[in-house]
Amino acid sequence: MDKVQRILRDLSDAALERGAPLDWFEDLYEFAEKDRTMIPWSKGEPHPFLVNWIEQHSTQPIGSALIVGCGLGEDAVYLAEKGWKVTAFDLSESAIGWVKEMHPHQSITWEVGDLLNPKPHWMQQFDLVLEVHILQAIPQEFRIPASKNLAPLVGRNGTLICIGRMTDSSKDIQFDGPPWPLEVSFIESLGQQLIPINMYSTQYDGEEHLRFRAVWKRS
Ligand SMILES: C[S@@+](CC[C@H](N)C(=O)[O-])C[C@H]1O[C@@H](n2cnc3c(N)ncnc32)[C@H](O)[C@@H]1O
Repeated sequence: MDKVQRILRDLSDAALERGAPLDWFEDLYEFAEKDRTMIPWSKGEPHPFLVNWIEQHSTQPIGSALIVGCGLGEDAVYLAEKGWKVTAFDLSESAIGWVKEMHPHQSITWEVGDLLNPKPHWMQQFDLVLEVHILQAIPQEFRIPASKNLAPLVGRNGTLICIGRMTDSSKDIQFDGPPWPLEVSFIESLGQQLIPINMYSTQYDGEEHLRFRAVWKRS
């Protein structure tokens, strides 16, 4: 485990012990003091599975996008540069303060928000809802209620894209998260009342789990 992973694990263990298992995100962003190398998921570029999807669908209409748990905003900035009108939110006030400073983009509204309690005016409002690496990073007791709040954010003819790690159920592997790779049946449940469009998965060299991108549409 490298130094950043050790700090992350210590902060998440401490938050769990004091009965506030989601607080470590804020603790880590605060601890990082705007040093991006302290945020292990921030690669400084959009997720390649998102880029690939957008490039494959470049002739389709562009509209409003909601980025759930936007972190340091790479996916939000990418979509804004492609012409989307973006709302990007994160649970962490420090992350939102930091990203607002880094990317004062005209087409992006950065907000503090909680997927467990989404803002009522977001309901069914977005042409694209994007979730990358959030559900796999939160314990099951929060993951299940949070997951039920994704599909209701998707507007008419809108798309939901979820990207993350997935367990290969043919192998009995115990993951010591965060992150906790997601079960296929759980991933399938994210698209409640939407139409499944695509499920892509692949395995990166040296990893025991798979990487997935799942896409649904509202009719
Ligand atoms: C592993 S990071 C991924 C960040 C970003 N999506 C990315 O791929 O770089 C998980 C993010 O989700 C945020 N988060 C965790 N729980 C959340 C919740 N209930 N509502 C909104 N954001 C949440 C965290 O603060 C963190 O920024």
